[in-house]
Amino acid sequence: MESQAVMRILEKGEVKLQGQFLESSNATFFVKCLLGEEQLQAVYKPEAGQTELYDFAPDSLPRREVAAWLVCRAADWDFVPPTVYRKDRLPFGAGSLQVFIEHNPQMHYLALEENERDLFRKVALFDLVANNADRKSGHLLLGKDGRWWAIDQALCFNVEPKLRTVIWDFIGEPFSEEEKSALCKLELALEPISDLSHSLRGLLREHEIDAIRKRLLVLLEQGAFPEPDSGHRPVPWPLV
Ligand SMILES: Nc1ncnc2c1ncn2[C@@H]1O[C@H](COP(=O)(O)OP(=O)(O)OP(=O)(O)O)[C@@H](O)[C@H]1O
Ligand SMILES: [Mg+2]
Repeated sequence: MESQAVMRILEKGEVKLQGQFLESSNATFFVKCLLGEEQLQAVYKPEAGQTELYDFAPDSLPRREVAAWLVCRAADWDFVPPTVYRKDRLPFGAGSLQVFIEHNPQMHYLALEENERDLFRKVALFDLVANNADRKSGHLLLGKDGRWWAIDQALCFNVEPKLRTVIWDFIGEPFSEEEKSALCKLELALEPISDLSHSLRGLLREHEIDAIRKRLLVLLEQGAFPEPDSGHRPVPWPLV
């Protein structure tokens, strides 16, 4: 389906509850979105169903999912499924709606051979930019469409260093020209007066947006994948 149609259905479609993912820490629902003749399957995370955490305001998590999609897209990366924030006509109130990716749960990052992991350099780079505190292997999905997708970006964009990820394969490797230009592109897109900054202001706090810019500058200066910070556990739990 064409991407504009996908956005239109997520933003305006009638949402019908189909089920709930029972193993997640937050309330996460499987829904159908219908608009005219068109429909798609999506994942709905209501603000009201998010678990209390000491370092993230629970009702902010669905908006972080949407901010992650916007940042990913602004760098021309395409591994976060289209995600919108909606307030109206949802079964449990405001929250995020993300395209559901049909996938085989046996296939995930840690199930790959090491030489197959290069595809995930851009995800590792995104996680550095977004300061992702919870990049689990099982949230890197091989879609039935043959593409790899990254889901669950709810714990991104904290101002404190929090990176926790299973992707530590590239420590010390210099960024490629393509990776550097993605970072530069993002830096430009994040100028204070820009469409991206404007959209992010509706989703994150101002100092969280500033922190993205600061992390980008540090990464461009370093020019290579960093080692884990010594201040906190560098991997998520569970790993998958
Ligand atoms: N876009 C998606 N496509 C397919 N499945 C999805 C998608 N988003 C979420 N899911 C499914 O819903 C489950 C819960 O979603 P998610 O992991 O984002 O929530 P969570 O509350 O952060 O869970 P966790 O405790 O595992 O971190 C996922 O493990 C996955 O099975
Ligand atoms: Mg999670």
